[in-house]
Amino acid sequence: MSNSGTIGFFDSGVGGLTIWNEVNKLLPLENTIYLADSINAPYGEKNQEEILKLCIQNVDFLIERNAKMIVVACNTATTQAIDKLRDLYAIPFIGIEPAIKPAALKSKTKCIGVLATNGTIESVHFNRTKEHFSNDVKVVTQVGEGLVRAIEGGLLNSLELNGILKEHLEILCKEPIDHLVLGCTHYPLLIPMIEKNIEGNISIVDPGPSVAKQTERVINANYLTNSDPELPAHKMYSTGRIDVLKSIVESFSLSTANQVSYSSLYQPE
Ligand code: DGL
Repeated sequence: MSNSGTIGFFDSGVGGLTIWNEVNKLLPLENTIYLADSINAPYGEKNQEEILKLCIQNVDFLIERNAKMIVVACNTATTQAIDKLRDLYAIPFIGIEPAIKPAALKSKTKCIGVLATNGTIESVHFNRTKEHFSNDVKVVTQVGEGLVRAIEGGLLNSLELNGILKEHLEILCKEPIDHLVLGCTHYPLLIPMIEKNIEGNISIVDPGPSVAKQTERVINANYLTNSDPELPAHKMYSTGRIDVLKSIVESFSLSTANQVSYSSLYQPE
């Protein structure tokens, strides 16, 4: 059995593109639709009720456009809302949470760092996982204050963003961490900058490839493989700055670039 629907993705902005890119590399024959709710970023500063309301809007938007499954490409939305989304909708959801487990299992110094949003670090989900490993490993957390806003504002690769990032990393690196878990989907966009700002042997844990593998497993288990003989289409929507979204997609140097279309949902007040 197969299916002509599309894989839906949403994030509070452009961060989930790091997940979308990994899924697209692994499953190049699948149609995708991506919603960047950039006008409402950062989600990490909102309360759970507000986040859930936005997630429901995003999911309805994707389902109206033929999503057969949804990747919640946002740690904050996953930790705050995915249980409720699974209760409300019949299609499969894939979530993403800071990858504490693989980092904790591999850590030699028994100390790992997690850079994430306030919403994720405060969530019940996150604290449950952190607690689970707390006997063996020290999990040092840092809220990446300012990073999402700067990326959404088109400041990726800027000195200003580098300054903010450097401060966060300096705090984390005061502890003997040997793994740095990127607990927000925006942060893999910063990997080149992170590498320049950390010293010693610290492995950066980017969850994108394992989320892509999980997406593949869910597609197979639910018989959702794309049956459409046409070349797959990738539809990108943003409630905010479509230029920022486009520049990030273009930086991925995709072989499928001519199959990507962009639509702005920005509505000036
Ligand atoms: N990319 C989102 C995440 O993974 C950012 C959340 C936010 O907007 O604060 O958490």
